[in-house]
Amino acid sequence: MTQPALQIFSPNAHSTRQLGQQLGQLLQPRDVVCLVGGLGAGKTTFAAGVGQGWGSTSRLTSPTYTLVHEHHRSADFQTLYHMDAYRLETPDALESVGFGDIWEGNGPILIEWPERLGEMLPNEYLWIEIEAESELDENQRTLRFWSQGERAGQLLAEFEASRK
Ligand SMILES: Nc1ncnc2c1ncn2[C@@H]1O[C@H](COP(=O)(O)OP(=O)(O)O)[C@@H](O)[C@H]1O
Ligand SMILES: [Mg+2]
Repeated sequence: MTQPALQIFSPNAHSTRQLGQQLGQLLQPRDVVCLVGGLGAGKTTFAAGVGQGWGSTSRLTSPTYTLVHEHHRSADFQTLYHMDAYRLETPDALESVGFGDIWEGNGPILIEWPERLGEMLPNEYLWIEIEAESELDENQRTLRFWSQGERAGQLLAEFEASRK
């Protein structure tokens, strides 16, 4: 894989959540944010921050058993889709459970385990990998960002600018 466009060190869960919050404030309808990393990496922690920054009236939790959670906010009628594809049997199953059209929904989309979507994944997305790298400190993570497509590139640039 190519070099990440952005790499951020996170010393603890609070910091990861805060990064999510900063990104959440910038999300537009149909933005796709992929969260990659093993079990316990911090994908849902980051997603919870995104929900907070976006203004969700409900907390984002782990949607492992429901595939997609929908969240709302008081500012407008958008929906924040939070998907956990961990238990998705095949990419096609997304259609059969009725989530084939969330890509055209009125709101941003967060996806944990996007690798499971295969061909169903759209062409444009922000790709964020979260990795624990230190055995000395179990709270340390590195977040690496890549963007695919023009809008995701713009989103990443805005995110970087918002952190300065
Ligand atoms: N720097 C960090 N970033 C994110 N989570 C962290 C960090 N340090 C410790 N943690 C903990 O690791 C766990 C991550 O869980 P979760 O976000 O549900 O992971 P995932 O969704 O990737 O399976 C949480 O218990 C969180 O408090
Ligand atoms: Mg999770």
